[in-house]
Amino acid sequence: MVKLSARALALSLCLGLAFFAGQPPVAAHGHRGPGLGKKDKKDKSGGKQEDPRDTVKRIVTEAIGGDKGVGAALIRLVFHDCWVNGCDGSVLVDTKPYGGGKTEKLAENNIGLAGFDVIDKIKSQLDSPEKQLSCADIVVLAAREATYNLSRGNIDYPVNTGRTDGVVSSASAADAVLPPSTFDFEQLKANFAAKGFDTKELVALSGAHVVGVARESSFADRLNDTTATPISPDYKDALAEDVKKHPIQPNNIRDKDETFRDKAGYVVETGVDTSDGAKGVMDNTYYHANLQNRVLFRSDWELRNDMSGQAGNAMETFKRDAREWYTEFGKAMAKLSQLKAQGPRFENRTDCKVINTNNKY
Ligand code: HEM
Repeated sequence: MVKLSARALALSLCLGLAFFAGQPPVAAHGHRGPGLGKKDKKDKSGGKQEDPRDTVKRIVTEAIGGDKGVGAALIRLVFHDCWVNGCDGSVLVDTKPYGGGKTEKLAENNIGLAGFDVIDKIKSQLDSPEKQLSCADIVVLAAREATYNLSRGNIDYPVNTGRTDGVVSSASAADAVLPPSTFDFEQLKANFAAKGFDTKELVALSGAHVVGVARESSFADRLNDTTATPISPDYKDALAEDVKKHPIQPNNIRDKDETFRDKAGYVVETGVDTSDGAKGVMDNTYYHANLQNRVLFRSDWELRNDMSGQAGNAMETFKRDAREWYTEFGKAMAKLSQLKAQGPRFENRTDCKVINTNNKY
C-alpha cells in the first residue's frame, strides 16, 4: 500500500484542480504558490543549487558592476510597474496584451525606461520549477538588490515573493496614472494619495532621483522662459549650455563635473561626496541639491511648495540625517512593492515580454 503524507495529498489535490482549471494555481489578488507550472530545466548557475534571490542578486550585481546606470533603471522600473494596476510585470510586455493596443513601454511617461535585458536574463536563469519566480517578483527583487547595491548596503528592505503576472499592459492606462515631471505639488500629492502614499513618502521616494539620468524633454520646461518654474538663473544657464552637448543629463548635480557645478552655483555642503567613486551612489544628496534649488525636474522643485510645510520639513530632515532617509526610503519601497495587482486574469509568464499564448480574450 502506498502511504501519502497529508502535505503530499494536499499538493496532488491542488495540482489536480489546477490541471482541470487549465492553468497553474493562482491565489486571490493575483498571488500564486511558488515553483509551480513549468518544466524542469538544467541549472544554469554553474551547476550548484542557488537560491532564486541569490540569482537575482548575482545578476543585478554583475550588471551594476558593468554600468551603475542599470541600477537606477531597475529602481525606476519597479515604480513604473507597481504604480499601474499594481505589481504585475505589465511594464515588461511587448506583445499580445489583453485587449490589444499599445503596451505600457510606449507610454509618454515611460520615456527612457530601461533594465529590461537584466530582467530577461534573470528570468532565463530561473526556469526550473523549484526556482521559478514570476516576472512581477523579479522586477520587485531586482529593484531591491539595485537599491541595496547603489546605497552601499545602507538601504535594505524586505520583500516577499508569490506575485503573478498580469495580462493587461496599456500605454494610455500608464499615462493616466504615472506622474509627469511637469506636475505641481498638489498634483503630486493627489497622485501619491491615490495609491495610499502620504507627503513624507512622496518626499522619501522622490529621493530616488539622487541617481540616474533624464532626457532633455523631461526638463525642457525648466529651460523655457514661458513655462519655467523658478529655477536659479546660474543653474539654468549652465544647464541650457551643457544640454546642447549632453542631451541626457544626470539627475543629481553632484554627478556633474566641478566646472559645471561651480558655474551652476552649487555649493558642496558638509556630508556631500563629489569624488568620482561617489557618483551614482544612493545617499541623501538629492535633498542637499533640492534645498539649493538645483534639481532637474519641476516635480522635484515642487516639493518646496507644500504650504503645509510637511514636504519641506521632510526634506530638511532627510538632508540633515541620511540614516532617516535610508529608513524611510526602504519602508516606502517595501510598501510600493506590495501594491496589489488588479486585472482580469493572472498567469506565470514564460517570457516576460510576451503574454502567454494560451490567453483567450
Ligand atoms: C514623484 C513623481 C515622479 C516623477 C514626476 C518622476 C519623473 C521622472 C522622469 C521624467 C525621469 C527621467 C526620464 C527620462 O527622461 O529618461 C525620471 C527618472 C528616474 N526616476 Fe522618477 N519620477 C518620479 C518618482 C520616482 C520614484 C517614486 C522613483 C523610484 C522610487 C523614481 C525613480 C527614478 C529613477 C531611478 C530615475 C532614473 C532612471 C534611469 O536613469 O534610468 N522616480 N523620473
